[in-house]
Amino acid sequence: MTAKTPAQSAAGGAKEVPGFAEHFLTSDMDGLGPDGKPNGQTATFSGASKANATAESASSKMELSDDEQAILDGRDGPEKAKLMKILVRFGETFGATKLVDLGGAPHSNLYIGAPYLESLIVMLEQCAAAGLKAYAPYTVNPRPYDVYNVQNNPTEMQLIAEGYPLQMRLDAVHAQLGAPDLNFRSCACYIDDIGNAPKPGTPVAWCESSAVNYGNSVLGIRTNRYGAGMEMLCAMLGKAPRFGLMTDEGRKAKWLIDVKTSEEPDWGVLGTAIGRKCVEDIPYIAGVDKYFGGDVTNDNWHKLKYMGSATAAAGAVGCYHVEGVTPEPKEKGREMLAENFQTYVFDDKEQQAILDTFENLWDDPDGDPTAVFIGCPHCNYEETIRWAKMFVDALDAAGQEKLAIPAYIFAPTVTRTRALLEEPELASRALGAGINVTNMCGVSYSGMKGFSERVRAVTNSAKNRNYSPIRYFPDKKLVDIAVTGKV
Ligand code: F3S
Repeated sequence: MTAKTPAQSAAGGAKEVPGFAEHFLTSDMDGLGPDGKPNGQTATFSGASKANATAESASSKMELSDDEQAILDGRDGPEKAKLMKILVRFGETFGATKLVDLGGAPHSNLYIGAPYLESLIVMLEQCAAAGLKAYAPYTVNPRPYDVYNVQNNPTEMQLIAEGYPLQMRLDAVHAQLGAPDLNFRSCACYIDDIGNAPKPGTPVAWCESSAVNYGNSVLGIRTNRYGAGMEMLCAMLGKAPRFGLMTDEGRKAKWLIDVKTSEEPDWGVLGTAIGRKCVEDIPYIAGVDKYFGGDVTNDNWHKLKYMGSATAAAGAVGCYHVEGVTPEPKEKGREMLAENFQTYVFDDKEQQAILDTFENLWDDPDGDPTAVFIGCPHCNYEETIRWAKMFVDALDAAGQEKLAIPAYIFAPTVTRTRALLEEPELASRALGAGINVTNMCGVSYSGMKGFSERVRAVTNSAKNRNYSPIRYFPDKKLVDIAVTGKV
């Protein structure tokens, strides 16, 4: 049976899709920049560098174990058989010949209870009703709104009610399938407070471009970049097709990024540059190990978070290697470079050239800023405390009680609670000064209907800048903007 609806994908244009996959038609990437113009994206977003792949162009035949074949034949019920059918077809589309058993825990980016996701939510509900569950307790992206700390006003309450009518159903089905409570919602699922950080080499199926990117690169786990929903199929089967970033060959870098800036690079600008240059190929980044002192720690991880998430937003990079810093190049050095790799030099001039492309997209380009957004992906405890201190210290230096405009630090609720418990004095001063720690997704907030008419925001996240009309500034400048209310 063939679905009547054409699939709209940035990679392949309009295609007929098989009936069993007719509702899996959208991607979070539409090939458009925040200015609404095509951004030249040609990636498949799988991390497999196989542009324009379709189910019809399947290049392999999956060899299933007896157990997998039995599932496909319906031994464990019709729901699981359907999931297996989709997974096999998906794997064959990308040249996989076998499925691998997953370890660690899944991470899902199905977090928006919007009408366009209803078919996926129904599928999850049918699976839950049939008694299926993820193979391990799993983590989920943050909710798209925060009606307690940020959007506690009638206009946004109304927009939330209209935009996310399925949110409770989605949250409920996640709870049935094995996700923890909403306090643990975060895209930075690997931070200490959330704890989903599988051991290096563990095959998993994660969905959320920044988590996939950080997990593959810094944790050393093995996951492809899945479209929303595919990670849940894998989670309920405990299996994923082996291709792309799950293989040794697929993790080799086709680009050597030679960082030659005279000072520490702007990590978000560097990530944007790499994403635009490499699209979905893997970069091997040299020249920045001196900014990490040999190890990735809770105090310096954010540099990789902001760089990596920008590579995954400006491009579709699912994995990067940093010489002397991330696990695979630490072990194998430049063996991680593929044959015939290309070189891209990122120096002061290139950094400035990329920065010059970050246009002012505010509806009123000459207006004053109205909010500061910190963290996309979510902040960990150390980053949350560091930003709160930076704001409070700047206020003290200026002899001011309150910031001129509110600052929102995006972090999970468990991290917010920890800050209240461990740094009560700072937390109280920060809250009184207009510094809010919010558990929602910053990009969802900045993507709300009419956002740019209501808010002129500034951010430290090149990822958020990539998806929305928010302006990007370095940390010190952001503190200054928060205190003065002026750019
Ligand atoms: Fe996280 Fe939302 Fe940014 S899920 S990475 S805050 S887009």
